[in-house]
Amino acid sequence: MQDHFGHRISYLRVSVTDRCNERCSYCMPDELQEWLPRADVLTFPETLRLIRVGAQLGIDKIRVTGGEPLTRKGVTEFLGEVTAVNGIKRVGVSTNGTLLARAGSSGSTIAEEIRAAGVDSLNISLDTLDRAVYQGVTSRDFLPRVLEGIEAAIEARFPQIKLNAVLMRGRNEDALLALIDFAGERELLLRFIELMPVSATEVLNESNFFPISAARRVIEAQLGSLIPQPDFKTSGPATYFQIPGRGQRIGFIGALTNLHFCDTCNKLRLTCDGKLRPCLGSHLEFDILKPLRAGASDDELRNFFLDVVERKPERHEFRENYQPQRRMVAIGG
Ligand code: 5AD
Ligand code: SF4
Repeated sequence: MQDHFGHRISYLRVSVTDRCNERCSYCMPDELQEWLPRADVLTFPETLRLIRVGAQLGIDKIRVTGGEPLTRKGVTEFLGEVTAVNGIKRVGVSTNGTLLARAGSSGSTIAEEIRAAGVDSLNISLDTLDRAVYQGVTSRDFLPRVLEGIEAAIEARFPQIKLNAVLMRGRNEDALLALIDFAGERELLLRFIELMPVSATEVLNESNFFPISAARRVIEAQLGSLIPQPDFKTSGPATYFQIPGRGQRIGFIGALTNLHFCDTCNKLRLTCDGKLRPCLGSHLEFDILKPLRAGASDDELRNFFLDVVERKPERHEFRENYQPQRRMVAIGG
């Protein structure tokens, strides 16, 4: 699948729930607390059918997101079925990490269970190592269990584990070095992400927006000039650097300030209530749940995907006074 701007679409992010056990201010502020009715959420068989249709059109990478995807019952079995879909080569999960060290139904940790289901990459959110700051950002005192979750993920031997830290002025500006050391000691790939106006515009202003350029300056003042790694890529829009004198790489996701952010976009998103979204930073979304439940054929569903790709915008609208309408938690990162 290719759009008008040369974007080749091979990556589908699938949100399986809008529910979460945390309340990150940038994702799900306390005042926006209604869950979707169950009947409006795609069942796992419905989601799998759409993934199969996507795979027939060249989707080869799936990332399962939420909300917190590991809160949904049956998600491990679902992940096992996703990894078995013909044409799907890589399956990742984005998680807040709080449940990874918990025992699953088999008695091993949930991290081990989803690794055994064939998931090969985990993205774990970690904005700070300071328990009080963590609680301030997420409204939950869950840092200790996230740290246990990260150790459980390491023990489960995922081929790739990334840590994602959303940059927030006044919250984690002084946490960057500690996060780098934490990731380096465990050989995890840390990325710093610019805050996006996805859930509430008031969270994005001069007093809390902390651009990647400023984060780089803080890091370089301590560790020396970062060495660009233009040939190192993951499946998303991060740019990577090596830390001088260390084998460690870190990444920056400049959603707002990197003007080339959308150039190599390869994604579509499926929300948990069955909307296909061609872009995170655009209000365009197309209801595929309706035709799916009305008995559409695979052929019709394939055409639906192609139509959505046809309408994929050239770039996101975050820089144009974008007003969020849907909670991030219902879109899936
Ligand atoms: N801006 C930037 N990143 C965000 N995430 C959630 N909301 C936002 C936002 N407004 C990140 C989380 C997680 C991933 C799923 O999306 O930190 O790493
Ligand atoms: Fe939950 Fe992740 Fe959103 Fe935080 S960012 S509220 S952990 S889904």
